[in-house]
Amino acid sequence: MPKNKLDITKRAEGISPFHVMNILAQAKALEAQGRDIIHLEVGEPDFMTPEPIVEAGIAALKAGQTHYTPALGLPKLRQAIADWYQSHYGVSLSAERVVVTPGASGALLLVMGALLERDKKVLLADPGYPCNRHFAQFVEGQAQSVPVTAEDGYQLTADSILKYWDSQTSMALLASPANPTGTVLSRHDLTVLSKAIKDQGGHFVVDEIYHGLIYGDVDTTTVLAIDDDAFVVNSFSKFFGMTGWRLGWLIVPEPYISVMDKLAQNLFLAPPTLSQHAALAAFEPETLTILEQRRQLFDQRRQTLLSALTALGLDIKAVPVGAFYIYADCSRFLNAAQPDSMSLSQFWLQEAGVAVTPGNDFGEFGAKTHIRFAYTRESTRLLEAVERLSALY
Ligand SMILES: Cc1ncc(COP(=O)(O)O)c(C=O)c1O
Repeated sequence: MPKNKLDITKRAEGISPFHVMNILAQAKALEAQGRDIIHLEVGEPDFMTPEPIVEAGIAALKAGQTHYTPALGLPKLRQAIADWYQSHYGVSLSAERVVVTPGASGALLLVMGALLERDKKVLLADPGYPCNRHFAQFVEGQAQSVPVTAEDGYQLTADSILKYWDSQTSMALLASPANPTGTVLSRHDLTVLSKAIKDQGGHFVVDEIYHGLIYGDVDTTTVLAIDDDAFVVNSFSKFFGMTGWRLGWLIVPEPYISVMDKLAQNLFLAPPTLSQHAALAAFEPETLTILEQRRQLFDQRRQTLLSALTALGLDIKAVPVGAFYIYADCSRFLNAAQPDSMSLSQFWLQEAGVAVTPGNDFGEFGAKTHIRFAYTRESTRLLEAVERLSALY
């Protein structure tokens, strides 16, 4: 090997960075020049971690909780998560089935590592959360993108499972509420999908990271209320406002506990101790009251931004009822100078100081004509952003 040539695996090289990181870097450069940028590209709550969680973290640190925990997590936290399924969804779950992980990211790596055999396929929605296809690639499986449309609420359906499943397919992974579209699968949809996947003899993995951030009257629940064999990915990042604490969880069927234990020991040793102690306060009534107030604020922002973007001329084909994202068709704003969502995002950033995420980050299907807005800013800033965009046209 020539001395200055990097020797990087195909596994790692094929993984692409987030396009939004370019936007973020440009936004930071503009801010350094004194420009005021409205950040609607950021996929994390603007709120601080709720005070009771922070206090529990400080107390744990002072009490010297700085050592490893078991690989599957603190028994008390695993029990608290299992209790949450009982109190919140009426689903009874043994704490043994709860695997505490470094974020949903850790849970996704474990589930892909344990379930996706080399060269086997996982069905993923396009548009969808970009890291999933990279996790599949990292474990040398194959990500099978399934184009999803607004008519199907940007989600996989029984028909698409049937159409895309072949002898190489072993699992389907989806998110509800979804990123980037904010759409939610109903109890009925989950039931139908679970059956379609069972009929193929495959695994059903549902990423429920945006659970808790659901608005209006949506008849949905955790997939575990319907299918006890499903794998559930979740996290303290979004609803609980703990992105930087790097803590999530995975619920697995009983026979898969020991493989997860083995993988977790080797890949991470254990989830972060301090964060686990802090998260024990996440399910306390005082914290849940704060989180409910925040959910209501997100809902107000969602409604504000939905009407403002629609008035501006963006086409929102499936009303988002979860997470904190609006996925909009921006075709009306494309022209010779800004032929796709990527160049449009750059134009909006440079000319209006509004940062958004182009569709390319979420796949290929419709990517060039769609943009994701995150309402992780106060309503006044959301309205100001839309006014600035409006002034460009
Ligand atoms: C759908 C989805 N899954 C998983 C993650 C990873 O979250 P974390 O590792 O912070 O829990 C994200 C983050 O944006 C996401 O949107």
